[in-house]
Amino acid sequence: MERVAIYPGSFDPVTNGHLDILERGLSLFDRIIVAILTNPKKSFLFTLEERIEMLEDCLKDFSNVAIDTFDGLTVDFAAHCNAQGILRGLRALSDFEYEFQMALMNRRLNREIQTIFLMTGLRWIYTSSSIIKEAAQFGGNIEGMVPPLAEKKIKQKFSLK
Ligand code: PNS
Repeated sequence: MERVAIYPGSFDPVTNGHLDILERGLSLFDRIIVAILTNPKKSFLFTLEERIEMLEDCLKDFSNVAIDTFDGLTVDFAAHCNAQGILRGLRALSDFEYEFQMALMNRRLNREIQTIFLMTGLRWIYTSSSIIKEAAQFGGNIEGMVPPLAEKKIKQKFSLK
């Protein structure tokens, strides 16, 4: 049986921490669908099209990774994709409560789908899309924290060189 997971998130924008989780997830799953949340009520820095473009650019060499978008419940999207798993990364302890709550709610909503957590790579333990955007906004150097296209687009957003 083909092992499929979805990797849901906002990806606003994709970071190297996301890529690390995804690459390691591929040792557990045959195929991973990166599932970008479209929720119009959430405010994102990047449009959906931009978030897709940045993911497509850095994932173009991965034949077993697809990119898709979803709204509504993550478990419903996972079921729609015939996925057995929801892949999430865990960084510092501060992630735990939110992730624990979400994983338990997801399990209650659909017991067939398992949430699989991978510990983040040590290099990425304190990085997140939000903190990277904040650093960039005030001119901080974010080189090596996000894939090249994301770095370029973040700089464009904040009108930095
Ligand atoms: O990158 P993020 O913002 O940490 O991703 C959060 C995401 C998309 C995984 C989460 O907000 C989510 O699953 N949203 C869809 C609604 C849902 O299913 N919520 C959890 C159970 S109520």
